[in-house]
Amino acid sequence: MAIRNRSVGLSVLSLVSSLSLASAKLAATGLTVTLNDVYYYISPFSSGKVDVPCGSLSAVPKVFGFKPVAIVNQGDVAQEDVSDLFAKWATIDDVFQPAFADGVFLAGSGVSCPGPYRNSTKACEVKAASRSFISLQKSKVPSGPYFLEVATGQVYPVYRLYEDFAGAFMESVLPTPDGGFQVLSAQIPGSAALTIGVPSRLYFTKTAEKPLAGVRLGVKDIYRIKGMKGSNGNRAWYSLYPASTYTGPAIQNLIDAGAQIVGLQKTSQFANGESATADWVDYHAPFNPRGDGYQQPSSSSSGAGASVAAYEWLDIAIGSDTGGSVRGPAGVSGLFGNRPSHGLVSLDNVMPLSPTLDTPGFLVRDPYLWDAANAALYGSNYKSMAKVKPKYPTNIKTVSFPTNPNQNAAAGIVTKFLSDLTAFVGGTANPLNLATAWAASTPAEAGGASLSEFLNTTYATLITKEQIELVREPFYRDYAAAHDGRRPFVNPVPLSRWGYGDTIPDSAHGEAVRNKTIFMEWFNTEILAPSEDPAECSSSLLLYIQSSGGLSPRNRYGSVPGVPFGFSTGRASVFSETPDHVFPLGQIAVNSTISQHEEFSPVGVSVMAAKGCDGLLVKLAQDLVEADILKVPLAGSTVEGGPIIRRRMAEMRDY
Ligand SMILES: *[C@@H]1O[C@H](CO)[C@@H](O)[C@H](O)[C@H]1NC(C)=O
Ligand SMILES: *[C@@H]1O[C@H](CO)[C@@H](O)[C@H](O)[C@H]1NC(C)=O
Ligand SMILES: *[C@@H]1O[C@H](CO)[C@@H](O)[C@H](O)[C@H]1NC(C)=O
Ligand SMILES: *[C@@H]1O[C@H](CO)[C@@H](O)[C@H](O)[C@H]1NC(C)=O
Repeated sequence: MAIRNRSVGLSVLSLVSSLSLASAKLAATGLTVTLNDVYYYISPFSSGKVDVPCGSLSAVPKVFGFKPVAIVNQGDVAQEDVSDLFAKWATIDDVFQPAFADGVFLAGSGVSCPGPYRNSTKACEVKAASRSFISLQKSKVPSGPYFLEVATGQVYPVYRLYEDFAGAFMESVLPTPDGGFQVLSAQIPGSAALTIGVPSRLYFTKTAEKPLAGVRLGVKDIYRIKGMKGSNGNRAWYSLYPASTYTGPAIQNLIDAGAQIVGLQKTSQFANGESATADWVDYHAPFNPRGDGYQQPSSSSSGAGASVAAYEWLDIAIGSDTGGSVRGPAGVSGLFGNRPSHGLVSLDNVMPLSPTLDTPGFLVRDPYLWDAANAALYGSNYKSMAKVKPKYPTNIKTVSFPTNPNQNAAAGIVTKFLSDLTAFVGGTANPLNLATAWAASTPAEAGGASLSEFLNTTYATLITKEQIELVREPFYRDYAAAHDGRRPFVNPVPLSRWGYGDTIPDSAHGEAVRNKTIFMEWFNTEILAPSEDPAECSSSLLLYIQSSGGLSPRNRYGSVPGVPFGFSTGRASVFSETPDHVFPLGQIAVNSTISQHEEFSPVGVSVMAAKGCDGLLVKLAQDLVEADILKVPLAGSTVEGGPIIRRRMAEMRDY
């Protein structure tokens, strides 16, 4: 009894002393405010300091000691001319609004201080029209809107807050001064939706070193970035592991080029293919905004596709493609998207599905940004043709293209594209059947197997054997160690695939690599051989249909998950390591079973070239846009824009 009392007494004492000795660690995580009913987030990380004359900016409103202000750096803009500048800012930046320009810090010679202060080095305030101008000697702070902490003169960057109504994101992301990231801590109204913050575009200037300066980027939640936890689409994974200590080289390349990561985005679990809705047990699948808003988003880069199709405020998203995980979402979202040549950049600190097949690629609306982003991500392994006049291949191979344009609405679009393309390159379309071509020139090593026999289990073997070893085994071990021997929950699709991997012998992996390699060598000689001419790069192009606009609503009960056996055209780039780029061609009208209304559904084509000719395909996309054969897709309910179906009534319904 006495002993117990003493120990209680001791522990209370040590608690008291530790409380009194430790200095409390208090940190801000930012602040949410509204300015004229627009939601903004004030970053907790200052951009710099300005001199604030005593009692100045009295007419500018204040919240928690912060006032909205603008900093204008161009020393040559006189205070009389700033109105034009602010009008321009409001058109190029969705974060800036005129209310930031009631208090203006003019760096350089823009403000004439009154009388005796004219030559003073101290800041002065001048009132003109309804604005207050404060002179600033020199500023390292980029021009744009800020929140000024009046008491300290610190200026903090402004983020505009948006609702992730498409459910495309896993977490919001804010850069930290140490080169890492933390969650952007804000919540605006939105039903079961995250809040995402985007920095003012005015802070960033594109340069040769920073070609992606200010580009707002979504990152698939399989890429680990410093300071953030990750999930791979699995709740147990997210809670088990701490934040990453470094950013992998692929994402670091984009950051170094100036890209601004605004959030981590949803992936189907462990980047396996899942369909909405039943497969998505741990997290709800993102909403494809096209058409009725209830069509499949495809997977696994589902958040990437849904977000770039839904949000004008987001410029680009990086996904990954092992068996179609960029191309599928690009097709159904009506976006450009690429599975690149295999092996262009390290995937260190990225969750693998199958390193033999994994590739990082983008989903994007603007084909010029696509080229710049590829150049940043893949470095010298990407041969941009931005400044080259390409000589496009004239042999246009087509797989399973419709021959009758009147067969259906999608057939009209793809056959028109094909004839426009062949006319544009001065070439001819040559229908190709891969199985027949293989049968006519089967490599001796294939022992006479048909293409579908030869590659039937190759993909399933590679992804399961590699992911079991690299992901499942360490995950199960770590989870069991932390949970008294328990197993973590895993969604049905990855679970059934891994289950298949357990039934096949380890030797199957070597056989799969061998089959894949034999196919690659055949394909890259017989079908998509490189060209001797660097301006041509590829001896031919290969086209197949990526998305034909058919309805695939997400409220259908799916079948029991299976194993991805079989060979289809979409596997050709997967095994041959060639680039496979999706071009949005347009859209067809469909009668939605959900809205009972006519809606529009995207149609897209895959364009392939020889390995290493990624730059040629992106240049082709740009040139076809210039020639008005392709149109740059817009964000919205259709590829031509238009409000996403979530309109608001003016009045509340009282029951
Ligand atoms: C300011 O400096 C300029 C030249 O340096 C001088 O000519 C002018 O008289 C000064 N004005 C005042 C108000 O001191
Ligand atoms: C592919 O492999 C699976 C599993 O071994 C088998 O059930 C199926 O019949 C095979 N299909 C072809 C076309 O060989
Ligand atoms: C590899 O090809 C052989 C035919 O040569 C086939 O029997 C086998 O199933 C294939 N295996 C894999 C894993 O691709
Ligand atoms: C939609 O349904 C209406 C009425 O049945 C029909 O006239 C129209 O052609 C249909 N549109 C499409 C795109 O199928």
